[in-house]
Amino acid sequence: MFERALGGSLVVAGLVAVMVGSACGTPRTTISSADDIPEDQWSRGVYLYGQHCSSCHGENGEGDEDTPSIAGTGAFSSEAPEGWSREVTFATAADVFAYVKEEMPALEPGTLSDDVYWTVVAYTLKQAQVDIGDDPLGPENGKAVKLR
Ligand code: HEC
Repeated sequence: MFERALGGSLVVAGLVAVMVGSACGTPRTTISSADDIPEDQWSRGVYLYGQHCSSCHGENGEGDEDTPSIAGTGAFSSEAPEGWSREVTFATAADVFAYVKEEMPALEPGTLSDDVYWTVVAYTLKQAQVDIGDDPLGPENGKAVKLR
């Protein structure tokens, strides 16, 4: 009985590994809490960006012909960059949060928790050289963090 149960769980573990392995390209993982990764918002951002954003925006936010760049000093312009269709203005971190929560990840928008959205926004703004201050970015200070 024990052996059969163990055998079954090994099969399940194997299947999960195969599913995770085949998910590359379009991440399927939906993380609703970031409890199991480091507390610090930057290192959580590195991880969560890699899970949910890098497949389209590139490992370092560089973008490509199908996806705008979200890194470097030109990113997060107040109006959409030439050729892209964002209609909202980016003036503060809270504007970026609202847009990203509404529209991203592009194929499954709104599927992440607010905590995960704030974390990837903090990470990407830092990648774009925006000074977000020393406190973790969130609903309390998002409006006060100006992009330019
Ligand atoms: C499936 C591909 C895909 C994924 C995954 C994805 N994005 Fe995007 N993202 C896009 C596309 C395409 C656009 C451009 C939309 C448009 O303007 O029509 C975009 C636009 C954006 C913009 C606006 C850029 C600008 O200046 O207008 C931000 C910010 C952004 N994404 C952040 C994120 C974050 C953060 C994540 C991870 C949670 C993410 N994206 C995941 C494809 C993706």
